[in-house]
Order: sequence, then structure tokens, then C-alpha cells
Amino acid sequence: MAAEHWGMGFNKRKLEDQRRQAAQKEAANRAGLIEAKGMTNHPGFFEGTGMPDPGWWEALWPDPADVLTKVGLKSDMDVIDLCAGDGWFTLQIAKIAGHVTAIDIDEKLLQTTRTRLADAKQSNCTYVEGNAYDIATLIDRQVDFVFLANAFHGVPDKLRLARAIESVLKPGALLVIVNWHVLRREQTTVLGEPRGPATALRIGPEAVELAVRQSQLRSVRTVEIPPYHYASIFQKGPVSTN
Ligand SMILES: C[S@@+](CC[C@H](N)C(=O)[O-])C[C@H]1O[C@@H](n2cnc3c(N)ncnc32)[C@H](O)[C@@H]1O
Repeated sequence: MAAEHWGMGFNKRKLEDQRRQAAQKEAANRAGLIEAKGMTNHPGFFEGTGMPDPGWWEALWPDPADVLTKVGLKSDMDVIDLCAGDGWFTLQIAKIAGHVTAIDIDEKLLQTTRTRLADAKQSNCTYVEGNAYDIATLIDRQVDFVFLANAFHGVPDKLRLARAIESVLKPGALLVIVNWHVLRREQTTVLGEPRGPATALRIGPEAVELAVRQSQLRSVRTVEIPPYHYASIFQKGPVSTN
């Protein structure tokens, strides 16, 4: 009898373990789908721009400050980190620049950013929840630098966003768009797993330039960010004096 009881307990535990493993697998799969395809509840959320889990994001971007310096971020700049996510880049922008405004559609991620910067005793940041398309109404001044990383590929109307960003840039100010290169998702592995947006969503530097061409932003240069990214750098032309 005792052995039978023990056997039933063992089976129950085994079943519970199997259920837990299935739930974990399902959660991991959902996270992958959010990251790759953009499954989320936020209306207006750009496709395939879910914030990845921090483990591999930090492995992929071990030195975000170096990336920012390479793309032209300077001290004293007034910066917008557009689609800021959990603040992995925002913190480094705050350390280098004069001020940073973190904008994201997901208030939970903004809270993570707020905590990250508070823990680092960084107080030169403002946090704004909203849709990137509405950038002109989310900020009350023009800035020196807009940083948009890992989101442009999923923007349905890229010219609309470029024009909105242009309106908040001072003459001569920079827009930096960091994107995944056009590689098959299976090729862009980090910590042994395929990562990043779905293959079909990825766009190269030429396509970014084409999308932005009809705005008043002019392409300045493209910077390689190994292993899988590039940065397209645009500048707002000076205001005409005519
Ligand atoms: C892949 S994450 C990248 C975060 C950060 N830029 C980085 O590279 O670490 C993309 C972010 O875009 C945000 N996002 C998606 N659609 C948006 C929209 N329409 N307006 C503002 N933020 C949006 C998501 O909430 C997410 O935090």
C-alpha cells in the first residue's frame, strides 16, 4: 500500500514536471514570437520589435557605449532614444550626452529603463510613453540626435516616421537608425539560438535610404556594427534663409 502511494506520488510529480516544462517551452516560444514577429497587445506596435530577454541582448551588445560613440554621439547633446526598450542603450546615452528622452510605447519597459538609470544614479533622463509616429507631440523642442535601434524594420510607414523625426531635429542634427543586416534568422545566432526579427522583415542600408529619401534628411554614412548590424546616419539640412 505504502509502495503504491509512493508510486502515485512519483507519477504525479512526473506529470507536474512535464507540465512545468511544457509551460516553460510555451513561454520561451512566445518570447521568440514576440521578438521575431511582434506579437503584443499594444495597438500601433511595430512588427517584430518585441524587446528580447536581457540575457542574449547583453551578449550581443557587450559595449553599447562604443556603438554610440561610433555613430557620432557627443557630450552635451540633447538626445531622444526612440523605441528605447529596457534602456540598455539609454543608460549609456545618458552617461555620454547632456540629456536623453526615452520614448517607448510599452510603459513596463519604460519603468525598467527608469529603474536602470536610477540604480546608476543617472538623473538626466525623461521618460515618455507613446507611439513613435507621434514624436512631434511627445516632445516640446528640437534635439541634436535621435537614436532608433532595432525597430525601423517593423515600421509600416517609414517615410511618415522619418518626417516626424525630422520635425524634432535641429538643423544639422543627426538621426541614427541601427538595424539588423539582411541575413536569414537562422544565421544570426546569439548564445546558440537564432535571434532577431523574422527574415522577411529585415531591410538593408539601401532600403533604409530609399525609405527616408523623400524627407529632408540626407544620408551621411553607414557604419558597420558587427556581428549582425549596421547604422544608417542621416542629417537634417540647414534651414533655408530664402
Ligand atoms: C527590439 S526593442 C529595441 C529596444 C532598444 N532600442 C534597443 O535596441 O535595445 C524595440 C522597442 O520598440 C518599442 N516599440 C514598438 N512599437 C513602437 C511604437 N509604435 N512606438 C514606440 N515604441 C515602439 C517596443 O516596445 C520595444 O521596446
